[in-house]
Amino acid sequence: MAKKVNVALIGYKFMGKAHSNAFRQAPVFFDLDVEPVMKVLVGRDEAGVKAAAEKLGWESYATDYREVVNRPDIDLVDIVTGNTSHAEIAIAAAKAGKHVFCEKPLAMTVGEAREMTQVAEKAGVKHCVNFNYRKLPSIQLAKRLIDEGAIGRIFHWRSVYLQDWIVDPEFPLVWRLNKAEAGSGALGDLAAHSIDLAHFLVGDITAVTGHMETFIKERPVATSMSGLVATGSEERAPVTVDDGTIFLARFANGAIGTFEATRFAPGHRNGNMFEINGSEGSIRFNVERLNELEFYSRRDPAHAQGFRTISVTEGGEHRWINAWWPAGHIIGWEHSFTHQVVDLLEAIAQDKPATPDFRDGLRVQLVLDAVERSAQSGQWVSIEKE
Ligand SMILES: NC(=O)c1ccc[n+]([C@@H]2O[C@H](COP(=O)([O-])OP(=O)(O)OC[C@H]3O[C@@H](n4cnc5c(N)ncnc54)[C@H](O)[C@@H]3O)[C@@H](O)[C@H]2O)c1
Repeated sequence: MAKKVNVALIGYKFMGKAHSNAFRQAPVFFDLDVEPVMKVLVGRDEAGVKAAAEKLGWESYATDYREVVNRPDIDLVDIVTGNTSHAEIAIAAAKAGKHVFCEKPLAMTVGEAREMTQVAEKAGVKHCVNFNYRKLPSIQLAKRLIDEGAIGRIFHWRSVYLQDWIVDPEFPLVWRLNKAEAGSGALGDLAAHSIDLAHFLVGDITAVTGHMETFIKERPVATSMSGLVATGSEERAPVTVDDGTIFLARFANGAIGTFEATRFAPGHRNGNMFEINGSEGSIRFNVERLNELEFYSRRDPAHAQGFRTISVTEGGEHRWINAWWPAGHIIGWEHSFTHQVVDLLEAIAQDKPATPDFRDGLRVQLVLDAVERSAQSGQWVSIEKE
């Protein structure tokens, strides 16, 4: 009988649903060395968390995370609350000796991210930050091609992360548009994913120069700051985060990069895209076509050169696919969360590091912080040491 890993999930809205689904699917589709048990769901509103626990498949619910992270029967604490509470919950959980899984961005500040990393490393627990796009078969194939030298020396990273959900100036001031609750806007929400992918595929970023813009300066006050609410309020308050951010980057290996993240790109719902160009070829990715990776090889015969579209659905060839469906029977966005949970549970079972971990989250936080400082000063800013 596999060892049980009892999970506490803190938060239950958008990401709560995605993580609950991942913990349900993981043992159904994958042969795991441990058995995740969806023990307790935590939220501050009793009626809300009770209903969510029933719907999402949790054994029980609780309203105080402090009590839950100290419970002897809990092994893993999963944090899907808004950004302001990541640090306090993660630190409390790690100090209580629990493994910790946390949504991105890891923290509000570099100081918080550093403390979370130090506490988790000192406690010797597994720690993992949910940069879930790493856990797509297409991204794993990109990594493999790069490691095999298929695109040679990397010259360029070029990413855009485009959304359009707040183009309407009447869209209310939800928590994501309030710096005190979100830390930053498109930068920490969207570019954070691109930065992690760039770290994973290209390597360390050493310096950045950026520009951040808030196009709509004031919005109707939301009746609840923690969710999407009806528009039409008379009262307005300032938007305190970036609507769109662009920055240039230099990498330690000599590559250069451009990053763009915006919530003001009409027609783009979740356009997380990048291209990497190297001496031997190029790679292109678009999350809205996540079962595919585009690859161009200069080594192809001249008469057959051109981007090829690889369907990353071959069991045995493409990571995690064996557990799902026959080739060509595509998977979706939510599978990246299941793959992340599978990898984390295997890390716990085999006592090996989880990836990406809090140190990866800290590396991203250092870049986010440098972009903000650069946008204020108009200068290039070097990335601080971890
Ligand atoms: N990996 C991804 O692709 C991805 C996508 C969306 C959001 N996120 C991240 O997930 C986190 C949550 O985002 P969301 O979209 O689910 O937000 P959401 O607004 O849908 O849900 C956040 C929930 O956390 C609750 N909460 C806040 N503080 C709490 C506390 N101290 N104790 C208990 N509950 C608390 C709120 O009441 C709310 O229900 C954020 O950090 C966000 O950046 C990641």
